[in-house]
Amino acid sequence: MTTATSPRSPLIGAALSRVEGPLKVSGTAQYTSDHHFDGMLVGVPVTATIATGRVSQIDSSIAQGMPGVHTIFTTDNIGPLYRVSPASGASIDEYRPPLSDDKVTYYGQYVALVVADTFEHATAAARAVKVSYDEEQPDVSLELTPDDEPSVDTERGDPEAVFAAGDVTLDAVYTTPPETHNPIELHASVAVFDGTRYTLYETTQAIMNHQAVMVQMLGVEPENVRVVTEYLGSGFGGKLWPWTHSVLAAAAARQLRRPVKIEITRKMMFQTVGHRTNTQQRMRLSATKDGKLTSLQHDYVFHVSRLDKSKENCGEATGYFYSVPNLRATAAFARRDIAPNTSMRGPGAVPGLYALESAMDEMAIKLNLDPVQFRLMNEPEIDEGKGVPFSTRHYTECLTRGAKSFGWAERTPEVGSMRRDGMIVGWGMAGASWMAKRLAAESTVTFLGDGRVRVACATQDIGTGTYTVLAQMVADMTGMDIADIHVQIGDSALPAGPMSGGSMATGSLVPSVSKSAKAAIENLLSLASKGEHSPLSGVDADQLAFTGGWVHRKDQPAQQGLRFEDLLAKENVAFVSGDGSSEPSSKDKDDDKRSIHSYGAHFVEVTWQPEIARLRVNRVLTVIDAGKIINPRTGRNQIEGAVIMGVGMALFEQTHYDRRNGAPINSNLADYVMTTHADAPTIDVEFLDFPDLALNEIGARGIGEIGLAGFAAAVTAAVYHATGVRVRDLPVKIEDLLASTVTH
Ligand code: MOS
Repeated sequence: MTTATSPRSPLIGAALSRVEGPLKVSGTAQYTSDHHFDGMLVGVPVTATIATGRVSQIDSSIAQGMPGVHTIFTTDNIGPLYRVSPASGASIDEYRPPLSDDKVTYYGQYVALVVADTFEHATAAARAVKVSYDEEQPDVSLELTPDDEPSVDTERGDPEAVFAAGDVTLDAVYTTPPETHNPIELHASVAVFDGTRYTLYETTQAIMNHQAVMVQMLGVEPENVRVVTEYLGSGFGGKLWPWTHSVLAAAAARQLRRPVKIEITRKMMFQTVGHRTNTQQRMRLSATKDGKLTSLQHDYVFHVSRLDKSKENCGEATGYFYSVPNLRATAAFARRDIAPNTSMRGPGAVPGLYALESAMDEMAIKLNLDPVQFRLMNEPEIDEGKGVPFSTRHYTECLTRGAKSFGWAERTPEVGSMRRDGMIVGWGMAGASWMAKRLAAESTVTFLGDGRVRVACATQDIGTGTYTVLAQMVADMTGMDIADIHVQIGDSALPAGPMSGGSMATGSLVPSVSKSAKAAIENLLSLASKGEHSPLSGVDADQLAFTGGWVHRKDQPAQQGLRFEDLLAKENVAFVSGDGSSEPSSKDKDDDKRSIHSYGAHFVEVTWQPEIARLRVNRVLTVIDAGKIINPRTGRNQIEGAVIMGVGMALFEQTHYDRRNGAPINSNLADYVMTTHADAPTIDVEFLDFPDLALNEIGARGIGEIGLAGFAAAVTAAVYHATGVRVRDLPVKIEDLLASTVTH
């Protein structure tokens, strides 16, 4: 239910540039690997060249004598490292501490760590460490057969019986390959240990979780671990949870009492810091002849590692996206000799919606319906999975507005029927959805003696604009100029804030920062009232107001009062602050009585030149319903990035594993193909602006992931429209398209 929002300044919704932009473009922003300390050593891991078996011997005799080598760590001398308790609430994907036994469970696993004076010396010595193995034959095959009984994600009615008796049915299997996150900033860890306290400079999307994990693995008290991540060169989910190199850097710093830096290589990015696992999804749909869905079954299986399993929740959106009385989604794991998988932008829902939205496109064609129309016909009134209303849902507006802006009415549905400039044009579309939740957050807003206002929170900016939207929020909530807001984040010593994951940071910060801004203003007015030297001394704080930096009587114009920095100076008070904290949305009293999600619709144009087998994604229009958009510039940038990543998911990205030894083969940026400038389409992004007050007073839901959800299905739908080839196995390959019979 939408109620009137309290009046907000024009800053909420202003398309501001990133406030930290000048620091980044001038090279003054300190990224993790930029940190250097006197006496710092550099660690380079020795990586396993088998995927499964045991380390029988490590001979470091030659490496030990090489120039600059300080220490070579193995299981024998790394010191005690502990497991994270699953009951602690801290998140990690690889539970076994590094170097804790002789068992190898994936290719590239760290089996030793060389610490030397320089990266070059450590690298050379790491290559000279001789590791012998008792090797077993790995299984990294992509064939997916469930190990265990599938578990039911969501279920209603009798989908099997209804499907069997369905008028129009579709039974199709869709597969997605393993993908590897490749933010340009490599994972890095710089660990400083003073004998009691650790300061860990990290590339993490979640400093508080990183701290919670590290205190457990190192076996120390929380006050003895500080985690710092001032700037991130993105992460895409790969930097959500700690990985083994971070633990090794801290352990090495502990053993040596010297700062230790480990920056992993691009090749290691493919081996030891997670990936999006491959999925196989069987979709069974039935509908009446006039296009009403009657049943939907979504059965999926995905690969996980031997020791750990992270669920790729492909059924996330299946239960609520469309109206269908009979439905079941099931999940199953298949273990392989691969490294632990992890979250990657839109985990679960992104591969899941590729399958669901592809199946919707195929059904629309079977029903001889326009795919936009088919979706509009199956719009639910409520979340039928949970049986509760939506907080707000504007999916139909995404579809209709997108169709209008894209010019969808001009589409002729026959395969290969649209031409332009000597090329065959294909148009496809798909829907998008992503969850919206709020995490717990604490923050402090402080009025400083120099006239600035600081907001402090132990959250971090993955590059998406958290510095900027925090500044916008505080400027709005205090009435100050945005240039006077100082945002301090990226340090676990600050009040505990949310992770940058699940598109939840922005929405989670609003209520906490609002409370701390209010508390800070209250404390300021109280100082004005109680202070000995304040010109407003003795005036009841209730009679005072704070307007644009001025403390004044409510019944007088602001500038007849005094600036807050003058008040602080008169009272010889260094600063006045206020704290705020907010609960996660899971604690809201009506959290189980509503369904909160973001929505979107993608419209895609591809061009196809059969003579030279050239396919290109040419034009994209995406309409997003993500509540109130605090900053349309950084917001648009998020969706543009997601679209570019979506072109990669549809056409390029795939990690190949060598069946002989389990190695990711294309482990570099030349062979792991991603969207380049030349591949990037023209992108239009439209935001619907329906505030969703279920999560916070601004009505912001978050936009990090929604742009990738469903996108690949829009591309494969457009590819089908152009070529007549239905690709159900991502990415689309030229070999697939050679089967096209469409010619000029
Ligand atoms: Mo996102 S996969 O939650 O960083």
